[in-house]
Amino acid sequence: MKTSVSWSLLLFLLLCTGGEVECNCPEDGLQIQGGSYTLTKGFETGSSLVYKCPENFYPYPAAVRICYPNNKWNPGPKRFSPQRCKHVECPDPNVLENGNVSPPLERYLAGNTTTFECYSGYTLRGSESRTCLPNGKWSGSTTICSRDSGETCPDPGVPPGASRRGNTFDVGYDVSYSCNGNLFLVGSKVRVCQENGHWSGREPACYSKFTYDTSQEVSEAFGSSIRETLTTLQSTNDTQAGRKIRISKNGTLNIYIALDISESIEEKHFKKAKEAIITLIKKISTFTVTPNYEIIFFSSEVFEVANIVDFYSGTENLISVIKKLEAFKIGDKSTGTDVNAALKTFEDRMAWIEEREKENFRKHRHVFLLFTDGAYNMGGSPLPTLARIKSRVYMSPTGDPGSRLEYLESYVFGIGAVIFDDDLQPLTAGTEEEKHYFRLEKETNLAATFDSIIDENEVIGLCGLHRTYDLLGNKASIKAMYPWVVFINIQGESPKKCLGSLVSPEFVLTAAHCFIFSDEPKNVQVEIEDGHGSKNKKVKTFKLHPQYNVTARKNQGVEEFYDYDVALIQLEKPVNISHSARPICIPCTKQTKDALRLPPSSTCKDQEELLLKNQQERLSFLTRLEPLVGEKDVYAKLGDSRDLCIKKALEAKGIKAKDPKIPVTDNFLCTGGEREHIACTGDSGGAVFKNYEDRTIQIALVSWGTQELCTGGGMIESTEKSRDFHINLFKMIPFLKEIMGNDDSDDFASIGFID
Ligand SMILES: *[C@@H]1O[C@H](CO)[C@@H](O)[C@H](O)[C@H]1NC(C)=O
Ligand SMILES: *[C@@H]1O[C@H](CO)[C@@H](O)[C@H](O)[C@H]1NC(C)=O
Ligand SMILES: *[C@@H]1O[C@H](CO)[C@@H](O)[C@H](O)[C@H]1NC(C)=O
Ligand SMILES: *[C@@H]1O[C@H](CO)[C@@H](O)[C@H](O)[C@H]1NC(C)=O
Ligand SMILES: *[C@@H]1O[C@H](CO)[C@@H](O)[C@H](O)[C@H]1NC(C)=O
Repeated sequence: MKTSVSWSLLLFLLLCTGGEVECNCPEDGLQIQGGSYTLTKGFETGSSLVYKCPENFYPYPAAVRICYPNNKWNPGPKRFSPQRCKHVECPDPNVLENGNVSPPLERYLAGNTTTFECYSGYTLRGSESRTCLPNGKWSGSTTICSRDSGETCPDPGVPPGASRRGNTFDVGYDVSYSCNGNLFLVGSKVRVCQENGHWSGREPACYSKFTYDTSQEVSEAFGSSIRETLTTLQSTNDTQAGRKIRISKNGTLNIYIALDISESIEEKHFKKAKEAIITLIKKISTFTVTPNYEIIFFSSEVFEVANIVDFYSGTENLISVIKKLEAFKIGDKSTGTDVNAALKTFEDRMAWIEEREKENFRKHRHVFLLFTDGAYNMGGSPLPTLARIKSRVYMSPTGDPGSRLEYLESYVFGIGAVIFDDDLQPLTAGTEEEKHYFRLEKETNLAATFDSIIDENEVIGLCGLHRTYDLLGNKASIKAMYPWVVFINIQGESPKKCLGSLVSPEFVLTAAHCFIFSDEPKNVQVEIEDGHGSKNKKVKTFKLHPQYNVTARKNQGVEEFYDYDVALIQLEKPVNISHSARPICIPCTKQTKDALRLPPSSTCKDQEELLLKNQQERLSFLTRLEPLVGEKDVYAKLGDSRDLCIKKALEAKGIKAKDPKIPVTDNFLCTGGEREHIACTGDSGGAVFKNYEDRTIQIALVSWGTQELCTGGGMIESTEKSRDFHINLFKMIPFLKEIMGNDDSDDFASIGFID
């Protein structure tokens, strides 16, 4: 029915805009008792009239009217059912089994409170008292009166407004739900008792046309679900808390966003939804995954703001996508809603990805975010398109998900004054444990909702997590890529600038040669950019490696000997960990084992073999560079290449030794030569690191070099002769472990080292 009406609307619109027909709807009879209304385009054809009521009330019988080209409102005002603000009602709680509800009322209105009591012999679970809220839901959780029956699963109760079939709560038995009266069900219609004693899926709720999910509910339910997508899974116990963390491999998470801009949705909603998408993308970018995005706006046509293909070919980035989103304006001629066209666009893009990725497509996960009122009146039903998408992602012609359910998640956000739930709910996909359907109230601030969905504490304990790209080109954004970088300034007798790395919330690792023996903690300034500006951290103490002795080989022809050039600075207070201040992973720790996904029984040696396996191992270190730091690329020469590299040490000033192994012990890594960067004064003490997937591991630290090519700092290239030597942390484990692995310290949490 909807379809035919809208076609006639379209036809008349053409006539009206052609100026042949006078198109205006009457002003009379629109008033609402106890409320007000707004018009999107006055009384012109195509204008929507939207009613508004105070809290606890909703407009009845109509929520909106649209001015049709026949100069009539649809639906039209009814003389015998005047437009008014009706009290919001909650679903009937008297479905409680084995207990009493008081007061017993015919209708429970927003603001009414009920209390529950169980018959003797039954215990109450859930809320003892519940209040009917302005969004048409009860506060608290479903009240259940049950007896221990020895069955595997607990009595699932009956949510208000629902009926339940099934009274056996043993493994394999199911219960099914339906909603009474005009209510419709959101959540799992059928739940099965599982061996672990839990019911499958999630508890259903009965919604009415005026029920909506509050901002907090959306934030909690969608937030936990998208967080799961962005961080968790698989069986690595990756934190102190033993939380399961999976870092999605770069580029295998595809997020498709479609926003309805047809006339059925008001301009102000569109603006808000656009803001919300920008907020969401920015939030997601604080995670370590870098998803590919497809972003479209649609009405009867599809407007593509970001094409996922461009993400794959590397020609699109988030900054430009955000700019495009901000600039995008609704056109005037966006009539009609073609949800199918939107889904077909997703389908096309997905086909392209499959074609490109071949076998690897199996590893790709797809997340749809669909914002619409669901009043699709063009392009036909989107369900067959969704079915094809499912077969593709599930890799099953029948559309049976098998074990691949989690590879496709479709979240549907119902927005607009009237939401077509029956059409929208079937467009969700994903595991039943997660909520995928959201009904948003007209005034919901989606941007704020999305802003609060992602709590960075979830991933905070992990070393080496960082953002993999520069989102905004400013200091804070670059800091998020190197959240462990620390600036060290030694004041006093011989002022010096060095770099260091945060290796735990309390400790900074740097080079011993940054200090002289007369230095005191108060001379040592440790500067950490924490996202809210640079902060100087108070230093409690610092310790140089006990075997560090610059003069130790003077009599062997080495003026300055840098073996064991490491120092640990202990901070007065632990750094507050955030996405812009977080420790780097260091070798031979449990955390690094997890970051490298090595098996529990793996050793320190396994880490070394994994990280330093090539004759030319690509590593990086940083240099101070506006607005914060620049990344230098080098290759550590290992195995047979090493001898040739360290030989250049003999050409350095102050070295008269004949054997390069005298100045360059086995504790050093050697880098430099043509087409590599070289360390400058001021880079000393900084981490020489390597990214393993999305985690950063510090392998060494910058110590000394054969030539002073850049006392002024900067991104300077090495000459053919110039070499740098870096202290290999794999050789410094006893020192690191003695200080940071100390279990008995009351000052700080010790780091777990492995053998
Ligand atoms: C329920 O709420 C309505 C509207 O606020 C109020 O008039 C009525 O007295 C309440 N009933 C009870 C039992 O609290
Ligand atoms: C993961 O952590 C849980 C809870 O701390 C523990 O029971 C389990 O044995 C751990 N698994 C592994 C593989 O370490
Ligand atoms: C450093 O080495 C030299 C030469 O072996 C030695 O004389 C001196 O005592 C050492 N200094 C320290 C602090 O160990
Ligand atoms: C860390 O955060 C807490 C709470 O936000 C704050 O009270 C404390 O001062 C912060 N500590 C540092 C060292 O910034
Ligand atoms: C992840 O993707 C970003 C952006 O496309 C890229 O710059 C980065 O190098 C990638 N990281 C890895 C580990 O592949």
